Amino acid sequence: MGPAMTHTPPKTFHVRSFGCQMNVYDGERMAELLTTQGMEAAPEGIDADLVVLNTCHIREKAVDRVYSEIGRLKREDGTRPMVAVAGCVAQAEGAEISRRAKTVDIVVGPQAYHRLPGLIDEAVAGREAVDTDMPAASKFEALPGRARRTGPSAFLTVQEGCDKFCTYCVVPYTRGAEVSRPWSAILDEARALVDAGAVELTLIGQNVNAWTGEDEAGRMQGLDGLAYALDKLPGLARIRYTTSHPNDMTQALMEAHRDLPKLMPFLHLPVQSGSDRILKAMNRSHSRDSYLRIIDRVRAARPDIALSGDFIVGFPGETEAEFEETLGIVHETRYAQCFSFKYSSRPGTPAADMDGQIAPEVMDERLKRLQAAINEHQLAFNQATVGKRTTILLERKGRHPGQLIGKTPWLQSVHVEAAHARIGDLIEVDILSAGPNSLAGAVTAQQAA
Ligand code: SAH
Ligand code: SF4
Ligand code: F3S
Repeated sequence: MGPAMTHTPPKTFHVRSFGCQMNVYDGERMAELLTTQGMEAAPEGIDADLVVLNTCHIREKAVDRVYSEIGRLKREDGTRPMVAVAGCVAQAEGAEISRRAKTVDIVVGPQAYHRLPGLIDEAVAGREAVDTDMPAASKFEALPGRARRTGPSAFLTVQEGCDKFCTYCVVPYTRGAEVSRPWSAILDEARALVDAGAVELTLIGQNVNAWTGEDEAGRMQGLDGLAYALDKLPGLARIRYTTSHPNDMTQALMEAHRDLPKLMPFLHLPVQSGSDRILKAMNRSHSRDSYLRIIDRVRAARPDIALSGDFIVGFPGETEAEFEETLGIVHETRYAQCFSFKYSSRPGTPAADMDGQIAPEVMDERLKRLQAAINEHQLAFNQATVGKRTTILLERKGRHPGQLIGKTPWLQSVHVEAAHARIGDLIEVDILSAGPNSLAGAVTAQQAA
């Protein structure tokens, strides 16, 4: 490494996160770390002394965005901030990044970011600052405590990494093997987040329902056990978790949805494809049918649960008939919402070398049809809540004065006029109307009075 530019020790920083919710969480932790080092957050990246780009490697487009973002970090006077590339692109490409983009000063992987302060010192001294280790000791132990203020809805990483090795996916390489954080560390952080203002916690993990650990009595617990413990936490009103893998969906977790009032009726359970042949080629280790049976059991435990999924169209070799099986699973499951992607060939993954790579026009056309099917069910799900009374958690301001936006238990956004309510309040609303992406509600008469 060794760009021509030298840097003085940065006093201000800006963290920008791309990709999944875990990156959002990691970005918050990096910001907290830099703050405890005496640095101050700057609202605009370009004005900051240090810009941390917390990157995503999942699809080619995500990586392209990072490089275009790096290129844009130039000031009018010819200077530029110190640039740190963190996250999954850092892990996947390492020192290669600074060869491709000379303006990158620091490269730090997702398991090494607790060492960011030392890397900043190296960069100031003009030395190579690359750290993509996956140290045995967890970064969490080295990180400072959580910030004193947080929004009403906070993320909490409980599990990281993936051992599933789906043939298209980079995550097992960028995040490493599955690791569960200890029970007590999670409960301590949950308490700290609630003290800091969180009303809702979303437990996150690449395979969050694979979480296991010993409770304070030394008993082995799963994610359901964590949910039971969190359900008793005063001040916490809502518990969510994401992302789950079908193979780790236990009966006990389904029953927790039946028994725990704070566990929200929402399950994100990606299936990727409706074709058994494609699922096998993807190494998903579940079939179309075993997935649908899980959905049946979840719905039996909690009939009003909202389901969400991830889909990939155009996996190598996918035929029109196989794609139609994916459409079929969307119609059969009637998801409340979904994420859908065109297959993106990722260097180093087995699928990248498979025969039958699909033409971009075919992928575009399939994605359009898939999204039409998804949207149809999303709208139907939203419309089915019209006329219902429900509780929403107010999370942000709306566009008009007095308007606030909150979330239903089923993760739908509701716009409401609530002049006397504040962000972080749980309020009761009547749902008046529904569109594909949000609902309109009114505060119930007794609350408005
Ligand atoms: N651990 C989670 C999240 C994985 S990444 C899970 O298993 O669901 C989020 C989504 O990105 C995946 O569910 C998949 O739908 C999509 N994805 C992953 N790799 C991809 C690739 N190479 N091309 C297109 N989409 C991909
Ligand atoms: Fe990627 Fe599959 Fe692991 Fe999800 S389960 S992170 S898609 S390898
Ligand atoms: Fe992207 Fe890494 Fe998350 S590749 S989706 S940021 S785990």
